[in-house]
Amino acid sequence: MHTFSTAKGKKMTDKTQPKRVLITGCSSGFGLLTAVGAAKAGFDCIATMRNLNKAHYLEEALKQASATATIDRLDVTDAGCIKQIAEKYAPIDILINNAGIVIMASAMDITEDEMRKVFETNYFGTVALTRAVVPGMIENRSGLIINVASLAGLIGHMFNASYSASKHALIGFSKSIRLELKPFNIKVVSVEPGYHKTENIRANANLSENFYDKTSPLFEYNRGFLRLMLNKIVPRAADPKNVTNKIVEIMKTSNPKAHYIVGKDAAFATTAQWLGLTGLLEKFALRKLNDAANRENKRAEAKRSAGKKQLPNI
Ligand SMILES: NC(=O)c1ccc[n+]([C@@H]2O[C@H](COP(=O)([O-])OP(=O)(O)OC[C@H]3O[C@@H](n4cnc5c(N)ncnc54)[C@H](OP(=O)(O)O)[C@@H]3O)[C@@H](O)[C@H]2O)c1
Repeated sequence: MHTFSTAKGKKMTDKTQPKRVLITGCSSGFGLLTAVGAAKAGFDCIATMRNLNKAHYLEEALKQASATATIDRLDVTDAGCIKQIAEKYAPIDILINNAGIVIMASAMDITEDEMRKVFETNYFGTVALTRAVVPGMIENRSGLIINVASLAGLIGHMFNASYSASKHALIGFSKSIRLELKPFNIKVVSVEPGYHKTENIRANANLSENFYDKTSPLFEYNRGFLRLMLNKIVPRAADPKNVTNKIVEIMKTSNPKAHYIVGKDAAFATTAQWLGLTGLLEKFALRKLNDAANRENKRAEAKRSAGKKQLPNI
């Protein structure tokens, strides 16, 4: 996309050029796929990631799709980096706040530093980048901000309380600025996916340093939840393209909705909540958790009796 300067030296968007979209967290998952989808759809795509050593995944995906994007470094927890990127690529027409992290453990076991780290990325990082980009959008009287929140921002998520709380905060932020920025023709959208097969629920699903603390009263529940996640949730998680196709669709929509709930699990859980059936869902989840924790205890017991080093495969 091209910009030009007005007599007062303001940078303005040339409306005949493709819209410029800046996306965070493009090294994998939703970010990578959205970058490819946006580039393929003809947007001027600025795909950012905090670690450029991972850029080859996106480069390869772009090559496969015969699409091009500008790849640059952006760590959303680094204020200097945010300022530099916001200035370098101004004016930005569409901002996709996608970067996010998970640190799993019960709310009693996760450390305070870890809780703050989750908020620094998922909430404060997103807010800081938004505040850096919005002035350009206000000048242009035009813009679209898409915040990738989560189903966990609409309902609770056991053993992920910090993540869930950060996504609740993000949804609150989206709802609030949606109204504040309306007079400037800036649209704000929150996307709330259920479980999808990305690194967020696999390699990037970090465990708290206290996750395996045997002295914790929640020790076997932490492990039980992890086992549930690996055996039941991850295999059933949906195709991330459902989310990223939706994001690209939103980018092309002139009048987007405030919220997009994506995934059968998310639709089911939020409908149950609206119908006042959360208690039933909680009972079901608790039964599954107790079963998983009991199985973990039996495994540990079997391991102790057999004197083996490895857990048996049950
Ligand atoms: N997958 C799901 O089931 C699911 C469901 C609901 C919502 N979400 C949300 O979707 C978003 C994308 O996650 P994903 O599922 O695509 O998982 P992912 O593959 O783990 O992608 C997360 C991305 O965020 C990046 N990131 C982490 N910290 C960052 C920072 N400080 N600055 C810039 N980038 C950073 C990661 O970079 P590195 O490679 O350097 O770590 C990675 O590129 C997240 O906000 C997540 O919470 C995911």
